[in-house]
Amino acid sequence: MKTNERAMLKRANFGSHIGVILATAGSAVGLGNVWRFPYMTGENGGAVFIIIYVLCVLLLGIPCMVSEFIVGRHGRANTARAYRKLAGGGPWSIIGYMGVLTGFLITGYYAVVAGWCGQYIWASLIGHMSGSPEYFRQYFASLSTDPVKPVLWTVVMLGLTYLIIAKGVRDGIERASKLMMPTLFILLLVIVVASCMLPGAEKGIDFLFKPDFTKINSDVFLSALGQAFYSLSIAMGCLCTYASYFSRETNLVGSATQIAVIDCIVAILAGLMIFPAAFAVGVSPDSGASLVFITLPNVFQQAFAGIPALGYAISLVFFALLTLAALTSLISLHEVSTAFLHEELVITRKKAARIVTITTMIIGALCSLSLGAVEFMTVWEQTLFDIFDFVTGQIFLPIVGFLTCIFIGWFVPHKLVRQEFTNWGTLRGRFFHLYIFLVKYVCPMAILFIFLHQLGLLD
Ligand code: PHE
Repeated sequence: MKTNERAMLKRANFGSHIGVILATAGSAVGLGNVWRFPYMTGENGGAVFIIIYVLCVLLLGIPCMVSEFIVGRHGRANTARAYRKLAGGGPWSIIGYMGVLTGFLITGYYAVVAGWCGQYIWASLIGHMSGSPEYFRQYFASLSTDPVKPVLWTVVMLGLTYLIIAKGVRDGIERASKLMMPTLFILLLVIVVASCMLPGAEKGIDFLFKPDFTKINSDVFLSALGQAFYSLSIAMGCLCTYASYFSRETNLVGSATQIAVIDCIVAILAGLMIFPAAFAVGVSPDSGASLVFITLPNVFQQAFAGIPALGYAISLVFFALLTLAALTSLISLHEVSTAFLHEELVITRKKAARIVTITTMIIGALCSLSLGAVEFMTVWEQTLFDIFDFVTGQIFLPIVGFLTCIFIGWFVPHKLVRQEFTNWGTLRGRFFHLYIFLVKYVCPMAILFIFLHQLGLLD
């Protein structure tokens, strides 16, 4: 490698432990925490689901996270090169490429949803967030199928991500995360307090936390596990890429645990933000996009009907926090492909970021248009949006996660794994044997079950 190439690839890293935690937690805390977790909890037995979810995070999520950290920090390179290094260039290198591809494919459609949040911030600001329940339904239907607006918003979100990514790891990602994550947390607390103080809020709290043991079945376990993996950003290249910016002193297990705890707290708080308000006005919460973009704006408006300005303020705060959550995840997704192109093609970071921004804008625009603006853009009667969601979340995620566990558990020499696990013997590594046991047997089996279950082969 020429000297100027080496200079170009001089490896950046995070400057502080809090930077490591906030940036990686930023990746983990996303739309999954706010719109998926609360609803799944309500549907699957409340407190029981939370307990099962936390166990899945502790016993399966954290070991998978640590495995990606090990690959990333050992490789000190983008996800593809990091796996290649550890695999000695052998067939296992393919996992890294798949991780990069998954991260890349998700970036575009994640940006579309982030864009909807942007439009809702704007609508709250200009006073368009009031009307009948039907109004909110119409509003979302016309936004998501509009040929121009959501595409422009997708471009805005990816443009913002570009501005942060182009500044680099420390001045861009780390600085932005240090600002955005605490803000997100404060905004979340504001709504939790407002929501829990509403008359009739107790019913929502009950719904969320009252254990209903009759709901436990294998579906609940598998849903909790799938949600845990998605929420922790496992198998998309993000954790591995960020870990390549960790220092030799970063305690991998300790950091993974802290990040997982933050992720769980945000998810539970999101439940406390949504259900008390929904039950206070007697609206039954639904799932997915309609919960966040149709039901909630209506709930906030009704709940604070006495003081309309407060209703607007709460919906503004809500969509601002949702946008922040989406952006920090988007940054980590974008970084996966940016680091890959930067290092593999030996081009500057800015140029790599530009290529990723433009290509993901195109993918995002196509996904958005496929939702209704351009009828013919469907494949097998599915919108591109759904196809990307399915292929990345339900096919690639389990495959990459499964192969990573098998690779680390069975093929990488345990001496090397132990060195990373214990920071070259400076930490005690008390849980090492448990960790190896989990990644060797328990995690791959659990992932295999989710995979078969999602494909409907396990009923
Ligand atoms: N963890 C994010 C969420 O909860 C989603 C995500 C997955 C982000 C993979 C980055 C990578 O929404």
